[in-house]
Amino acid sequence: MKKQTTRQAGLPGILPRLARWTGSAMLLGLAALTGTSAPAQAADEMQRRMAACTTCHGREGLATNSGYFPRLAGKPAGYLYDQLRSFRDGRRQQADMNHLLAQLSDAYLREMAEYFAELDLPYAAATPSDLPAAELARGRALVLEGDVARGIPACVRCHGPALTGVQPGIPGLLGLPRLYIASQLGAWVTGDRRALAPDCMAEVGRRLRSEDIRAVAGWLAAQPVPANYKAVPASALPAGLPVACSAMEAHR
Ligand code: HEC
Ligand code: HEC
Repeated sequence: MKKQTTRQAGLPGILPRLARWTGSAMLLGLAALTGTSAPAQAADEMQRRMAACTTCHGREGLATNSGYFPRLAGKPAGYLYDQLRSFRDGRRQQADMNHLLAQLSDAYLREMAEYFAELDLPYAAATPSDLPAAELARGRALVLEGDVARGIPACVRCHGPALTGVQPGIPGLLGLPRLYIASQLGAWVTGDRRALAPDCMAEVGRRLRSEDIRAVAGWLAAQPVPANYKAVPASALPAGLPVACSAMEAHR
């Protein structure tokens, strides 16, 4: 948990709880991953792998928007696969995830990514934000318009006009916990979250200041999720990417 502690230092109070929580959950998860029974049938195998994940991520990867753990269900398969490889290969830092995936093959990670991407499950209702209106307006403006003077493209230019993501590699930004969004944006500033080059999200993320992060995370987490969210990820961006992204290159 060392890395995580460093980069979430701005979020006091939550950390000890998260550490305790993920610590015990991790034992359960590990038991499910490394169970000692004789080789089981493929379906049982898949279920065992999922049990290891749902301990933290919720039933079938269905996290609520109130905690920290990100939902997995319905995210683009290419995106999930990239993230699993990033945890395994050290481009993304989270002690439990790094440890759980350390020994897994590309084929195995791809199978898990495809499993979660296929799930189409309802989202929890968004919780209204307690941020002042001016801060929320700032968050909204950054998401929809960016900040040209500081070289920050609008988030919608890559995450899609309705923020529902773009196949194969860009995730939607709705239905995520506020704390999770803020933590990820902080991880780009500190260099704890990386993708293969060209790493467009790192380029954008590093330009955000902490007040931008608070505003953007607060506004995004309070937005309702459209009913057909999973069906919506666009197959292409109408205006192309403002910065090149490895996530949108042919899926390795
Ligand atoms: C001990 C708790 C725990 C377990 C067990 C666990 N995860 Fe995670 N997972 C996390 C946390 C915490 C994060 C957020 C990491 C961060 O802050 O970057 C995460 C992030 C992820 C992400 C990135 C999501 C995104 O939107 O970028 C994926 C994909 C993922 N986990 C898949 C899995 C899979 C598949 C399993 C089962 C093999 C699993 N996780 C098991 C705690 C866990
Ligand atoms: C140039 C394209 C681009 C722009 C502009 C962009 N993003 Fe991203 N974003 C990506 C890509 C690609 C990923 C996924 C790959 C990765 O992890 O690097 C991503 C991932 C994310 C994630 C992680 C979601 C998760 O489930 O872990 C968050 C949060 C995010 N972006 C927020 C933003 C915000 C806020 C803005 C606007 C200030 C923004 N992005 C602008 C391309 C972009």
